[in-house]
Amino acid sequence: MAGRARRRAHHRADGRAGVGLTRRPAGGCSCRERKPVRGRVIQQLRLWSGVVLFAYVTGHLLNHTFGLASVEAMEAGRRVFSAIWRSPPGMVLLIGSFAVHGALSVARLFRKRDLRMPAWEAAQQLLGLAIPFLLCLHMLGTLGLSIRFGMDPSYPFVLWATWSDPLQQIALMAAAWTHGCIGIHFWLRLQAWYRTGLPFFFAAALLLPALALAGFAVGGRDVLAMAAADAGWVGAMLEGIRFPGREGVEWVQSVEARMSAMTGMAVAALVAWRLVRALRARRQRPVRVTYPDGRMVRAEPGATLLEVSRAAGIPHASVCGGRGRCSTCRVHVSRGFDTLPPPDEGESALLRRIGAPARVRLACRTVPAGDVSLTPLLPASAGPVEARARTGTQQGAEREIAILFADLRAFTKLSEDKLPYDVVFLLNRYFLAMGRAVEDAGGHVDKFIGDGVMALFGIDGGPQEGCRSALEAVRAMAAALGELNAALGEEFSEPLRIGVGLHAGAVIVGEMGYSRATSVTAIGDAVNVASRLEPMTKEFACQAVISQRVVRLAGADFSAIPSRLVEIRGRERPLRVYPVADGGDIPPPG
Ligand code: FES
Repeated sequence: MAGRARRRAHHRADGRAGVGLTRRPAGGCSCRERKPVRGRVIQQLRLWSGVVLFAYVTGHLLNHTFGLASVEAMEAGRRVFSAIWRSPPGMVLLIGSFAVHGALSVARLFRKRDLRMPAWEAAQQLLGLAIPFLLCLHMLGTLGLSIRFGMDPSYPFVLWATWSDPLQQIALMAAAWTHGCIGIHFWLRLQAWYRTGLPFFFAAALLLPALALAGFAVGGRDVLAMAAADAGWVGAMLEGIRFPGREGVEWVQSVEARMSAMTGMAVAALVAWRLVRALRARRQRPVRVTYPDGRMVRAEPGATLLEVSRAAGIPHASVCGGRGRCSTCRVHVSRGFDTLPPPDEGESALLRRIGAPARVRLACRTVPAGDVSLTPLLPASAGPVEARARTGTQQGAEREIAILFADLRAFTKLSEDKLPYDVVFLLNRYFLAMGRAVEDAGGHVDKFIGDGVMALFGIDGGPQEGCRSALEAVRAMAAALGELNAALGEEFSEPLRIGVGLHAGAVIVGEMGYSRATSVTAIGDAVNVASRLEPMTKEFACQAVISQRVVRLAGADFSAIPSRLVEIRGRERPLRVYPVADGGDIPPPG
């Protein structure tokens, strides 16, 4: 019953339905529609099988570093290493991960309609493809002989066998380690803790292979020295590990030849299939994708929206390389949204996590079945910081809030005879007092501008609560200023004075800025109005000018305070405001 209900689930307009399909896209059905969960499972399998292999390579390199101590230390380390990875569960995990990771990575590469990709991704793919070729002989000569002939491959044997021609082994180490590091980096760089520790991880990523190479070199030198010093050493060593002799060598050579031939045929088949697919796609009607600047791209059916952008040379953010992890490729689809296949489970989960609004999809996971118009939501230069999960107002939302501007009156003149150190000290005391007053009242200090303050109220609680908090903040600011003046005593020839403008209205609230200078702020007409009310405190010789809208929303009784109509530049109608002589006179909300 539940399954049937799930199958009936509609492809909601917000693009976040995880399963089901009620509308068949114009261009036919894709595999992602039939098995929406599959994409996420595949992604997780590829990721975690890669993590297992990276753990194996890390352990292997660590074992190599023991060569800096002695060959015996390497061999002792290998016994521990083998106890883990040569145990039945370890073997299943290792071989299974290798097979799964390799197959899924090749399949992913094959599924790509366009092979244009960032340099780091291309490097990772090429290194990944090289690993099986570099690994083949090493695996057959150790694990293969072990399984087939019961040999117990020791470190002295491997060093003796490889050190006379070590380049392949070194290339294998470099390819596997670099491939893994790129994958781990582009997976974890979305995490704040990883970015914090990046210098340490980077140093470790360089140090470990360098030490492993040094250990490998020292171990190889020692083994060759032992072989040179004792004519019977090699024979005894081979006998000790039950080396199968010529029969084993011929077996390795024949299996390697067959594996190379099979790999070559598989590559040829994949290339041929890509060609066939491209020829078939040419006979199909292309999908037209229109960008905000009016550019229209004709794309091969089956390509994701990210691939369409890349193929057309249109810069498009993709921090995770199109793996559906970062959300930086997200687009707003203004036309043709209903023809898109529903998001798979992975895409749905990510869209939910970032609180994506309606008609937003991940470009790297969306294969358009018909013509669409889209707008990328992040600049092409977006990095890991922009990729972190943004929710609610962080990614931009319309809210009705109260906005407060406060400014220190004549502070420049007052501070003329002060040392720069004193000015900074006094301003920081003032900011501390005002910031606390705002936050204690439930507001959010947006920014300090010169000797001014901008604060927002009601971002989460709504306009009524926001306006009540804002009035409370004005009262608290007046009280805090009184205390500050009392504390500063003779510092100034006259007490510090502030002017406050307070208004409420609909604004866009969101996280804005660049790099570290990013914060939650608001833009909109109500912000401009509040900023223009603040200087009117000079005109009315009062401490605060508060719009009638704030008073109404707060439910405060201002009947004892005469109101005024004021003209605001850029507004057609005058605005009714209450000039308040002292913030402490503000009546509490009703
Ligand atoms: S590129 Fe990272 S989610 Fe699409």
